[in-house]
This record gives sequence, C-alpha cells and structure tokens, in this order.
Amino acid sequence: MHRILVTAVVLLWVAAPAAQANELEPLLDYSGPQLYQRFCASCHGRQGYGDGPVAPSLKVMVPDLTRIARRQQSGEFPEQRIREIVDGRAVLPAHGLRDMPVWGYELEAQAPPDQPGRAAAQGLIDKLVAYLRSIQQ
Ligand code: HEC
Repeated sequence: MHRILVTAVVLLWVAAPAAQANELEPLLDYSGPQLYQRFCASCHGRQGYGDGPVAPSLKVMVPDLTRIARRQQSGEFPEQRIREIVDGRAVLPAHGLRDMPVWGYELEAQAPPDQPGRAAAQGLIDKLVAYLRSIQQ
C-alpha cells in the first residue's frame, strides 16, 4: 500500500514538470486579477464573494474571499496560510478536485529550485495571493 503511494507520488513528480513548464508559459503575462478570473472566479465569483456559477453544485460552501482577514481573530490577512492553500500545500477538499487547473502550479511550486517552471509557478502564486490581499474588506 505504502509502496503504491510512493510510486504514484514519484511518477507524478517526474511526469509533471516537463508538461507543465509549457503550460505555465502563456500565463506569465497574466496579472493577479486576470489569473483570478481565469482560475478562481468560477467558484469564488467574479468579485470573490463565493457566488461563482459552479458554487451551487458543490457540496461545500464556497468562502467569500473578500473577508478572509475579517474571519481571523487577529483581523489580519493570513498570508502564509493563504499561500499554502493556493499552492496546494494545504489541501482543502474542494481544491482537491483534479479538474482545477491551479493544481498544475502546485507541483511546480513545490519542485526543487532548479526545476524549470518553479520560479514561474511561484510568481503566479505571488500574484494571486497579492490580489486576494488587495480585495480584503
Ligand atoms: C472548484 C471550485 C473552486 C475553485 C475553482 C477555486 N476554489 Fe478556492 N475554495 C473552494 C471551496 C469550496 C473552498 C472552501 C474550503 C473547502 O474546500 O472546503 C475554497 C477555499 C479557498 C480559500 C480558503 C479561504 C479561507 O478563508 O480559508 C482560498 C484562499 C481559496 N479558496 C482561493 C482560491 C484561489 C486563489 C483559486 C484560484 C486559483 C480558487 N480558490 C479556486 C472552491 C474553489
């Protein structure tokens, strides 16, 4: 069981970067808002209120991303945690859907530093996190 898991992870690791370095390229010129509209708005809504067209068909509530900071006891935007959610280190059930394109970046972002595509992926995640910070109410 363990072995199967390890093999699967290694296969993913090896297979992913080559394909995804190319996939990332057309996205490098996207701004944070553009990335958001393309990959996140379907669920989280164009303005981030959690009211995207896909939201009603999910079993979980889609959170309002303009109120992340407000939901914290400290009232502050939890930069590190949000970064982990966006790059996939913190696995949320709904984000685990493999049809969500952002998971391509996840692999890139966690790849070793010399891996092609990693810096690109980090850059995209930076833009998304900065955008989320900017829409806090
Ligand atoms: C398939 C629908 C879907 C898509 C697409 C999607 N999300 Fe989510 N997201 C959710 C749901 C549902 C949750 C609630 C947590 C869960 O999975 O249980 C969530 C939670 C989050 C959270 C945590 C919010 C909090 O207050 O803890 C962040 C941040 C987030 N999403 C950012 C993004 C970003 C950025 C994108 C695009 C790159 C994105 N999401 C794309 C459905 C989606």
